[in-house]
Amino acid sequence: MYRVVFLGPPGAGKGTQASTLSRQLGIVHVSTGDLLRSAVAADTPLGREADGHMRAGRLVPDALVLKILHERISLPDARAGFILDGFPRNLPQAEALAAITPLDRVISFEVPSRVLVDRLVDRRVCPRCATVYNVRSHPPRNVGVCDRDGESLVQRPDDRLEAVTTRLKVYAEQTAPLLEYYRSRGLLHPIDATGSAEAVARRLRAALDKPEGSVDPG
Ligand code: AP5
Repeated sequence: MYRVVFLGPPGAGKGTQASTLSRQLGIVHVSTGDLLRSAVAADTPLGREADGHMRAGRLVPDALVLKILHERISLPDARAGFILDGFPRNLPQAEALAAITPLDRVISFEVPSRVLVDRLVDRRVCPRCATVYNVRSHPPRNVGVCDRDGESLVQRPDDRLEAVTTRLKVYAEQTAPLLEYYRSRGLLHPIDATGSAEAVARRLRAALDKPEGSVDPG
């Protein structure tokens, strides 16, 4: 059973890896960022409340995120396992998650900040199918157009430099303390998330395939 959390700063490649790995393992990829962006696009009450926080690069209030997370991992397709991408983001969320489900592994994606900023400002996404591209490292076949459905690609509002700076600061202050939280529980597996997406995928599989209990000191 894979009940896995991907922990790492914005732009570390969590979504890119989760999308491929979830298909390979046949488990669900639960991205709280994607769930929130869908709520914003659908203009639901939750989406309207989340929108301003997200644009500014701040965390959305815990109660809102916990509600959508709980609803999503209670669906039958999450019984075979899941990858949580972008949740938990602070200590109260980690404690709430522990009360909902046990975890098998927490993968920490390690990337220097200067690489993160470049990856984020160069990211483009498809507003229809949410496929993620990068103008440098993973461009679409035709400039500005999604390979899958031909939709024009857009930049996420929170990938503008000002919001990126806030997101990195929020990560350092609120999310990074979770590394110690999970290390002390014997769940943390750090991986080097620099280099090509394929190289990162190989390190990720090695970390997931390690026998239980063989935890990296980090
Ligand atoms: P969310 O959508 O979760 O954003 P994030 O955690 O900031 O992560 P990103 O999606 O920016 O990065 P990623 O690590 O997935 O990188 P990716 O694979 O795309 O959250 C957005 C907002 O929602 C938050 O700021 C907050 O407001 C709210 N929110 C979400 N969850 C919340 C929670 N639990 N509590 C409260 N609020 C919450 O890769 C980035 C780029 O790099 C792409 O262009 C990609 O193509 C490229 N790339 C990937 N891997 C490589 C590689 N190896 N080499 C070169 N380029 C690469």
